[in-house]
Parts: sequence; C-alpha cells; structure tokens
Amino acid sequence: MANPFTLGVASGEPLPDGVVLWTRLAVDPLGTDPRRPGGMAPKAVEVSWQLAEDERFTQGLRRGIAQALPVWAHSVHARVAGLKPGTDYFYRFKAGSQQSPVGRTRTADDPASTRPVRFAVANCQRYEHGFYTAYRHLAAERPDVVFHVGDYIYESRQSARVVRALGPLPGETSRLHEYRQRYARYRTDPDLQAAHAAAPWVPTWDDHEVLDNYRGRGDGSAAFLRRRGAAYQAYYENQPIRVRPEDGNLQMYRRRTYGTVADFMVLDARQYRDATTMLGAAQEQWLLSRLVTSPVRWRVLVQPLFFARRLVPGPAPNLRPDSWDGHPAQRARILGVNAPGLAVFSGDVHNAWAGELKADFLDPGSATVGVEFVGSSITSQPPETDGPAVLAANPHLKFFDDRRGYLSCTAGPEELRVAFRAVDFVDRQGAPVRTVGEFVTKGSGLTSENASSK
Ligand SMILES: [Fe+2]
Repeated sequence: MANPFTLGVASGEPLPDGVVLWTRLAVDPLGTDPRRPGGMAPKAVEVSWQLAEDERFTQGLRRGIAQALPVWAHSVHARVAGLKPGTDYFYRFKAGSQQSPVGRTRTADDPASTRPVRFAVANCQRYEHGFYTAYRHLAAERPDVVFHVGDYIYESRQSARVVRALGPLPGETSRLHEYRQRYARYRTDPDLQAAHAAAPWVPTWDDHEVLDNYRGRGDGSAAFLRRRGAAYQAYYENQPIRVRPEDGNLQMYRRRTYGTVADFMVLDARQYRDATTMLGAAQEQWLLSRLVTSPVRWRVLVQPLFFARRLVPGPAPNLRPDSWDGHPAQRARILGVNAPGLAVFSGDVHNAWAGELKADFLDPGSATVGVEFVGSSITSQPPETDGPAVLAANPHLKFFDDRRGYLSCTAGPEELRVAFRAVDFVDRQGAPVRTVGEFVTKGSGLTSENASSK
C-alpha cells in the first residue's frame, strides 16, 4: 500500500481521562471516483494506534486496533479512556508497514484543578483564498485545546479569485463523494495538519459545511435532507469527534469542562434552526440550565455567529438576519440568565471584533453581562466593512481588525485574556504573526492591553 496518511492525524474531544484519536486513510487524497474515496479500495483496513506520555513511545505505552471501514471513508476514531488529567500524550498510527506522523494531544484538567487553560479559536478557512500560515503559528503555540467555530470547508464552487486551486472537483459539493473529496483537499494542507497534530480540537460547524446560510431542515425536501445527511457524514469522517451521525442527524452541542476554570459550551446554530429559533428548544433548555448551574469561573459559549447586536450603517438590512440579530428574543433569554463570567466566542464575518454584551443593547448605560470575541478568518476574504463606522454606531463594540488570524486565549481563576493574532498576508507563504489586539476581562467589562487597532 502507498502512504495512506496523506491527510495527517488529529485528536479531539478531550476529557479529564480520555481523547479521540483520528486519522483517515487516503492513498490518493484528491481521487474523484465516488466508489473509492481517497483512492481506497472498498474493503476494511486494520489500523493500529499507539499512545504514550513521551515522543519516543516508551512511557506508559498503550495500543489498540481499529478497523478503517469503507462505509466511513476509511476514517478511524479511536476512543481512548483511562488517561491522566491535564497531561500531554503522543500518538501515532500504523497501517500495513506504513507509519503515520506523530501527534501531540492533551487531556482536560482534573475537575478540581485551578490551573489556567490555554486555548485557541479558529474559523473560516476557504482553501482557494490563501495559505494556512496562521495555523502554522497556532501550532507553534501548542495550546491545551483548539476550538473551531465553523466554515472548516466551503461547499461553494471555486471562487473567481484564486490563490491556490481546489483541484479536480472545483464545483459546488452536494453529494457524499464530493464533500469527502473537499475535506481531503483541505486536509492535505501541511499547516492545517500541523495545527491538528499540535493539540486536541473541539470543532463545531456553521453553514458552509453544508450549504451557505442553510437553516435546519432547509426547504424540507428529501433532496435537501439527503444532501445535509451526506455533509454531516463527511464532517464526522473528517473530524476527531466522539459521536457518529444517525438517521441524518449529528449530535453536536456539548460541554467540555476544564477544572474549576472554564466550562466550554459548544453550540450548534444550524441543525435545529428555523424562522423562530437559532438553537431549537432542547438545546436552549440545555444551555440555560447549564448557565445557571455551572460551578466554574468562566462560562464560555463556543459558536459560529456574531452574538452582540451589530447595527451596520448604510443601506438595509442594517441588522444581519443570519446572525444572532435574526434571533434577538433567544439571545435575550440567554443573556437574561445573568450567568457570571459569560464569554462568547464567534466567527463567520471574516473580520475580528471584540465587545461587551449588554443587558439592553439599545441602552449603553445598561449592565454589561458578558464579553464577546469574534475571530476573523484563517484565510476567507472579508466583505467590504467600514469598521470605524460600525464601532461608532455600536458603543458596546470596542475593537475591529481586518487581518486574517486566530485567537490565542488564557482563562484563569482571576481573568480571561484574549490576544487577536494576525498575519499580514495569505496570498503567499511565510507571513509572520503578531498580536494586533489584546483584551482582559475579570468578569464584567473589557480592558484593552497594548492593542494596535488599525
Ligand atoms: Fe466563513
């Protein structure tokens, strides 16, 4: 067999005692044959994995066997349990005589831990828009955990302006083999592979993993539900997540807790959405009750869409219906809980923002009930945005930056610190990274530190 580890390795869903180890075999990652995703023959392949506390695989070695099945595009999701909390581990796979690269992962902290958690947030990585240099820098930081808040792939046909080409299937994806091939295209990128190999990931999705701006069951047609089911299956096959799709649905919202410091509530803003709700009743109930009962310092919402009100001066619509401004009643119910230590992380808009969440966004004097940090994008091009005009029209928004990048964050018992990391260009490789804004909160307002906002 030729090298089947062309898509790299990954880990995810860290718990205090376990992680999921992922790979997907693909001897020909860009292959277009619907019956042979990744160029793999339609038969099961036995894959062995190893995990240890050191990179030489001598300390506390564990091993296991997994079957890479054609029905799941030869993906492997090995659920490892019985590990130590807050501990670095290294892992690798073997198929036949071929050995994968080594990945580093880390379990979540012990429930009693007060240790600060270092995490990164990324989003929006349209392949043809540029190089994933930001991921190369993110990988070098080796955070405890990486959250991805959506637009991991773009289903759209290749854009007119192309930094690098999608390759043999540049059209809009709608069938299973097309989504699979699109993920493979993205995952061949060495910088993205480095970011996955550097830390465990906890991803959630936005719309482009399926279809631009889709909501829930779409138009309700059998054709749309088939397409959504194919997209959800390919998502599972290509992410280090714990839960499989069932009957065309995939349980995505979940909680990942780090000690007494951070409760990460990862939301699904697409699957249950309709004209009246962003989250659906069951997810909202789950979220509100956890916001009330969570015993930890920071209640962190990890989700794709701009959460604060954002009035954009100029021609209508001045409030974007696809964001939380399309669901102000549900947003008000979440903020109405008055959960202490509320921090929201978002993406989607391809520019970076930071702001305060207000009890009443129309009254700047009303209580500040949380903070929000919006990542720009790894590569996706931003829309024309008059940042200063939007800041002036929304006094609760404090920061705008239009460069590509990611968020580098530390949540501790005292404070939450968020650095906006940015690269100056993505149309070629080698961009350095720098902090273009840094914010600290102790639980109410937002304080800017050494920010160099443009
Ligand atoms: Fe996006």
